[in-house]
Amino acid sequence: MLELENKRILVTGASSGIGRQVAIACAESGADLFIVGRNEERLNETFNKLKGANHQKFILDLTNEEAWLPLFESITDGLDGVVHCAGVNTKYPVKFLDKSKIEGIMEINFNVPVLITQKLLKLKKLNKEGSQVFISSISSSYAAVSNAIYGASKGALDSFSKVLALELASQKIRVNTISPGLIQGEMLENYELKDELLAFEKSIPLGRLGKYEDVSNAVVFLLSAKSSWITGTDLKIDGGITLK
Ligand SMILES: NC(=O)c1ccc[n+]([C@@H]2O[C@H](COP(=O)([O-])OP(=O)(O)OC[C@H]3O[C@@H](n4cnc5c(N)ncnc54)[C@H](OP(=O)(O)O)[C@@H]3O)[C@@H](O)[C@H]2O)c1
Repeated sequence: MLELENKRILVTGASSGIGRQVAIACAESGADLFIVGRNEERLNETFNKLKGANHQKFILDLTNEEAWLPLFESITDGLDGVVHCAGVNTKYPVKFLDKSKIEGIMEINFNVPVLITQKLLKLKKLNKEGSQVFISSISSSYAAVSNAIYGASKGALDSFSKVLALELASQKIRVNTISPGLIQGEMLENYELKDELLAFEKSIPLGRLGKYEDVSNAVVFLLSAKSSWITGTDLKIDGGITLK
C-alpha cells in the first residue's frame, strides 16, 4: 500500500517549482490530486507528469475568489490533504514599499491560504483525519534585506497555522508548516550574482542549496499516516542555515 493511496489532495501552485514537485511526489505516493495554477501550459506540463489517472486540474487566479467555484464544486467527496504552495517572493527595500505592494504579497501568501481554508471548513470539504501543509519560509524569522513583507507574510501564516491546528484537533485534522531555506530552482539558474550565490551555498552547514525533492519528501510525510501525532509544528528544511 502506497503512503497516500486513496487520499484526495489539493495542491496549489502546482504549475511551478515546489508545488509541481509536491504534486508529482503525491501522485507517485498514490494520491488523487486537484492541482491549481495560473499558467495553462505549465500546469498541463505538471498534469502530464502525474502518475495515476484520477487527477483534475484548475487554471485559475486564486486572488479572484469567484474563480474558485469550479474547484470547490469538483471536490465532491472531501479532501484528505491540502498543500498550500502558491506564493510570490517579491522583494522591496522598505523605503520603496507602498500599500499596493504590501497587499500584493499578503494577498496570495496569506489571505488566499487562509480564505481557502475557511471556505473548505464552511463547506465541510475537509475530511476527518486530514492534513493541511502550508509552505512557509525561513524568512519569517531569518532576516534578509528586501524581504520584510515576504517574511511578514510567512510569519503571519505560521501564527495562523498554529491556531488552526488547535481549532481542528478535535476532528483529528492536522495542520503543519514547512519552512524551506533557499531551493535551487529555475530562477537561480539565471541569477546574475553567481559569486554571491556560491558564497551563500558554502555558508550552509550541510554544504548545498535545497532541492525541490527535499521539500516534497517532507510534504508526503506530513500528509501521510506516519505523521499522525504531529500537528502545530514547523519543519525547517534549510541545510542548517538558521542554526547560525
Ligand atoms: N523556492 C524557494 O527557495 C522557497 C523558499 C522558501 C519558501 N518558498 C515558498 O514555496 C512556495 C513555492 O515557491 P516556488 O519557489 O516553487 O515558486 P514558483 O516556482 O514561483 O511557483 C509559485 C507558484 O504559485 C502560483 N501562484 C502565484 N500566484 C498565484 C495566484 N495569484 N493564483 C494562483 N497561483 C498563483 C504560481 O502559478 P503560475 O506560475 O501558474 O502563475 C506557481 O505555480 C511559495 O509559497 C514560496 O514562498 C520557496
